[in-house]
Amino acid sequence: MEKSKPYVILSAATSIDGKIATSTGFSNLSSKQDSIRLHKLRSKVDAILVGKNTVLRDNPMLTVRHTKGKNPIRIILDSEGTISKTSKILQTSKKIPTIIAVSKIISKTNLNKLHQFPVEVIITGKKSVNIKSLLKKLSDKKIKTILVEGGGTVNWEFVKNNLFDELIITISPFLIGGNDAISFIQGKGFEKISKSPNLRLKSTKRLKNHLVLNYEKV
Ligand SMILES: NC(=O)c1ccc[n+]([C@@H]2O[C@H](COP(=O)([O-])OP(=O)(O)OC[C@H]3O[C@@H](n4cnc5c(N)ncnc54)[C@H](OP(=O)(O)O)[C@@H]3O)[C@@H](O)[C@H]2O)c1
Repeated sequence: MEKSKPYVILSAATSIDGKIATSTGFSNLSSKQDSIRLHKLRSKVDAILVGKNTVLRDNPMLTVRHTKGKNPIRIILDSEGTISKTSKILQTSKKIPTIIAVSKIISKTNLNKLHQFPVEVIITGKKSVNIKSLLKKLSDKKIKTILVEGGGTVNWEFVKNNLFDELIITISPFLIGGNDAISFIQGKGFEKISKSPNLRLKSTKRLKNHLVLNYEKV
């Protein structure tokens, strides 16, 4: 029998003050060296997962570019299937395997739109995508490792539900601030520090002015 969930790594580049984007949505915090590190990591995992706001804001490809290696499967959490037909994700779906995870509230129109592309649509959850059930389905598809690349709302869901195993965070030499700027973890947050998962610092790596921190859950 397959495991109930793949191994999940949360990954992000943050400012020193823990933001992953400015209030106006600029999120390019990595250096060239850090991008190479990230893309090497992407080439080693089975899948990359992001939330729909990240697709809307950044229009990412989620491919391996700064190094050689295979592209992982791309997974987008998008309960209502609102992803744009012109997004790079849908436009490149012929070449790169793509899963759009939606919930039961998706309209017929949006479902038909998704079916115009060679993507796999997984329907799970009543209103929002049910991450736990999604992970089980992904595990059944032999997806063993997933790199979760945000944004903050999706990261919180994984942390809140204790569904991650490891964190790899690059602290970039910027101070961003702003109450409306997205943090590495959004959502309601924990009321007490004791509710935080216990993390062990596995390794640190300095890339010039950037610092890569690797934590595992204990
Ligand atoms: N610096 C970095 O490393 C980095 C990395 C990634 C993103 N970012 C930045 O992060 C920002 C976006 O973050 P965000 O927090 O606004 O959005 P997000 O986490 O990218 O997407 C959140 C959305 O995903 C959908 N979703 C579906 N099922 C979900 C579930 N079970 N749990 C959580 N979300 C679910 C929800 O919309 P529906 O309910 O409509 O489905 C939700 O509003 C962007 O500005 C981007 O540039 C930065």
